[in-house]
Amino acid sequence: MKIVIPGGTGQVGTLLARAFHRDGHEVVVLSRRAGPPAAVPWRVVPWDGRTAGGWEAELEGADAVINLAGRSVNCRYTAANRKEIVDSRLDSTRVLGEAIVRAARPPRVWLQASTATIYAHRYDAANDEEGLLGGDEPGAPETWNFSIAVATAWEKTALAALAGVPLPATRLVLLRSAIVMTPGAGGPFDLLRRLVRLGLGGRSGDGRQYVSWIHGDDFVRAVSWLIGNGAISGHINLAAPHPLPNGAFMAGLRRAARIPGGFGLPTPGWLLEIAAFFLRTETELILKSRRVVPARLLREGFAFRFPQWGEAARDLCQTEGER
Ligand SMILES: NC(=O)c1ccc[n+]([C@@H]2O[C@H](COP(=O)([O-])OP(=O)(O)OC[C@H]3O[C@@H](n4cnc5c(N)ncnc54)[C@H](OP(=O)(O)O)[C@@H]3O)[C@@H](O)[C@H]2O)c1
Repeated sequence: MKIVIPGGTGQVGTLLARAFHRDGHEVVVLSRRAGPPAAVPWRVVPWDGRTAGGWEAELEGADAVINLAGRSVNCRYTAANRKEIVDSRLDSTRVLGEAIVRAARPPRVWLQASTATIYAHRYDAANDEEGLLGGDEPGAPETWNFSIAVATAWEKTALAALAGVPLPATRLVLLRSAIVMTPGAGGPFDLLRRLVRLGLGGRSGDGRQYVSWIHGDDFVRAVSWLIGNGAISGHINLAAPHPLPNGAFMAGLRRAARIPGGFGLPTPGWLLEIAAFFLRTETELILKSRRVVPARLLREGFAFRFPQWGEAARDLCQTEGER
């Protein structure tokens, strides 16, 4: 297969590109980075994420496009960063959609990044694809509502691109992904593992908030399965079937990392806010209760290799770098 990955130079894109390349597929990453080609064994083609250009030729006859482009949300939500978070996602999705519609031989499937953050902050029940979207939760910080608004506009932009096309040749799948856990340096799992090893891996806040996650291997398998399964389109939750409260999640990670006595210093919410300020990030990723389940994947027969956190954490702790 030929697979084109706009924004495929980041954590998730590199994971997918490496896996598809290893399996013998042709991988083309679209990147804004100028300069000599990156030291990767797949092709990296320039684009600016905003305007049409030579990159569009790569879409002709492609089997799949997986759009991951967007400014990292791991930053303070200042006005300038907010603008970049929104513009980078909507502009890249719009220009990609226009190119798909113009293509003489359009890609068979367009997998568009979205996020499990789109669902409501809740403890009482899990959100499947029909679950409660967020934005109106009483007491939710304004930054959480911002993330939900971004995700909603992102999905709308992708849907609008194909809306006017009678019988579009390209199937659109919106990936509402939970945090992708991989062992490689710099990712969210690596950060958590380092905290745990420093003795700082206790519960965060009151520890009741749910953590939705997906093992990187299952993420790759699910994306590959979605490319091959021609009957599926629309919203898909990419999350392991068993989200768990933060307290239990951190305890599972301490066990997997074999921390003596299972000790981990808890971090109260107020301290997390201060730490986030100095680390130039937001506490949303840690404190929002994301209780998201992959109902459609399970209904359609996708089998997770790592459905439970304990087993996933043990597997991830056994590997230091990327596989
Ligand atoms: N990682 C997760 O667990 C997770 C979970 C849910 C959703 N997501 C979403 O999935 C996507 C990929 O995640 P990731 O963790 O791989 O993100 P990432 O590491 O931040 O990579 C995203 C890529 O987007 C490109 N980009 C950055 N700023 C841009 C801009 N202003 N305009 C156009 N492109 C820009 C960059 O590529 P170049 O610099 O090469 O152009 C970058 O490598 C993101 O949109 C993220 O929000 C991720």
